[in-house]
Amino acid sequence: MSDNIPLLATVTAKATTAVSLLRSAVSDYPPVAFANSLGAEDMVLTDLIWREHIAIDIFSLDTGRLPAETYTLITAAEKHYGQRIHLIFPRPEDVEACVQRYGINGFYDSIEARKACCHARKVEPLQRVLAGKGAWVTGLRVAQSTTREGVAPIAPDTTNGLIKVSPLADWSEEEVWAYIRANGVPYNPLHDQNYPSIGCAPCTRAIQPGEDIRAGRWWWENPQTKECGLHMVDGRLQRIVKEGTSA
Ligand code: ADX
Ligand code: SF4
Repeated sequence: MSDNIPLLATVTAKATTAVSLLRSAVSDYPPVAFANSLGAEDMVLTDLIWREHIAIDIFSLDTGRLPAETYTLITAAEKHYGQRIHLIFPRPEDVEACVQRYGINGFYDSIEARKACCHARKVEPLQRVLAGKGAWVTGLRVAQSTTREGVAPIAPDTTNGLIKVSPLADWSEEEVWAYIRANGVPYNPLHDQNYPSIGCAPCTRAIQPGEDIRAGRWWWENPQTKECGLHMVDGRLQRIVKEGTSA
């Protein structure tokens, strides 16, 4: 990978653009927070934010059901950068009510139960942490899924009432990995075991050769429903590019 000069030149240029976008978000829409799932894209953003000393708080939503490897990565990343990832937990009463109603693994039984679990463990905690913020940063990429074709580098998030910044919107998976390898960025070892996309342990599995990169997420559902609710606006993803923004 490291001897692929054209690829590395593209990645370097895109990383520079991403840093500019992050810096302008901090000056235009403070305070800014980065929602870090610890996936490959988010480790690129973690590296950019912390190495470039950009004033963005990095937080992760700890659903309580993350794979052991993700917790190990949190510790490794904190040691690598000498910084702390801010962990946000769900409200116990919400999780208890959801488990009481649908069962501890009820998400396999219906989309309603799955969305209720995602709401209690991810969406409500996200809304809580975004309150008072001017913008939030995500690792969304257009190429990740049919549900993400409309992802823009910067767009209003009308659901949460702030700006949403996705600096890697136009990055390919190959570019993400070229950045990680060229810069020695820590990453989740599950990625090397055919897990290109990693969420909660019970809702993530390895993919088969040739399968879509998000095929292992909520694999029992149809691709159109496979979003946890963190990135929906009135049931859809929105695409509004800030004037003058290049990506
Ligand atoms: S998900 O919505 O299907 O779970 P995915 O795992 O692809 O999303 O992540 C997309 C983006 O959502 C990540 O780059 C990150 O910004 C945010 N995100 C997802 N899960 C978390 C999490 N547990 N904590 C913080 N941010 C998250
Ligand atoms: Fe619950 Fe699965 Fe959603 Fe995690 S991904 S919050 S375990 S339904």
